[in-house]
Amino acid sequence: MKTWTTVRDWQARRRELRGSVGLVPTMGALHAGHGALVERCRRENDIVVVTIFVNPTQFNNPRDLERYPRTVEQDLRLLESLGADEVLMPGPDDLYPDGYRLRIEGGSAVEGMEGAHRPGHFQGVMTIVLKLLNLVRADRAYFGEKDYQQLQVIQEMVQDFFVPTEVVPCETVRAESGLALSSRNALLSEEGRQRAASVYRSLTTAASAGEARRLLESEGFAVDYVEERWGRRFAAATLEGVRLIDNVPVGEAQ
Ligand code: PAF
Repeated sequence: MKTWTTVRDWQARRRELRGSVGLVPTMGALHAGHGALVERCRRENDIVVVTIFVNPTQFNNPRDLERYPRTVEQDLRLLESLGADEVLMPGPDDLYPDGYRLRIEGGSAVEGMEGAHRPGHFQGVMTIVLKLLNLVRADRAYFGEKDYQQLQVIQEMVQDFFVPTEVVPCETVRAESGLALSSRNALLSEEGRQRAASVYRSLTTAASAGEARRLLESEGFAVDYVEERWGRRFAAATLEGVRLIDNVPVGEAQ
């Protein structure tokens, strides 16, 4: 496995690569959910490229950016064990050489939910993902359904800008309790991690979005939204200062 810390070195490397290329974009702090994306990417492509970059432009809250877990050495060990070939991890000055001068605004998918509660978040996501797609020129790129609205936003962008990469949605990986795996779970206490499973439980057991919200509020979560869209039920709620999001197909809800 080779690692690249500058855009220039990576671009030279990319020119040498032959065969189908799969991309798994990440912000590091890798867990089994990322592992599943890398494994699938490994099965479906000749070359597996993973990017690790904590993208500052998608954090609307500076404290969230500061607290975001960073575990690069552990991440690299995991990626090596999963058979990744190339890891691209440049710094912000390299990926934003002119600052945040140009950005993508986004269409209908950015509206509501995360788009409403995290101003500028999806603009930052789209801008960095487009940069990474252009740098990697992958045949396929893998994204988890836990960030389902992000997936829709990226699909819209790829379609509108004729990006020749297939976006591959991958099912959410969950702990036994039902809690969706997320890098942010590392910021919860042990007790918090157990309580956090209520997000999934309320999404799947409540008779309506309103009931799911009431359940979460009664358990001490600060709820941003519980909403149905695209045939799925979505929630965003904060526990112990950690914002959690999840979604399930409405058919899975009782
Ligand atoms: O889902 C993520 O980890 C990030 O939003 C992504 C797609 C890597 C862009 O920074």
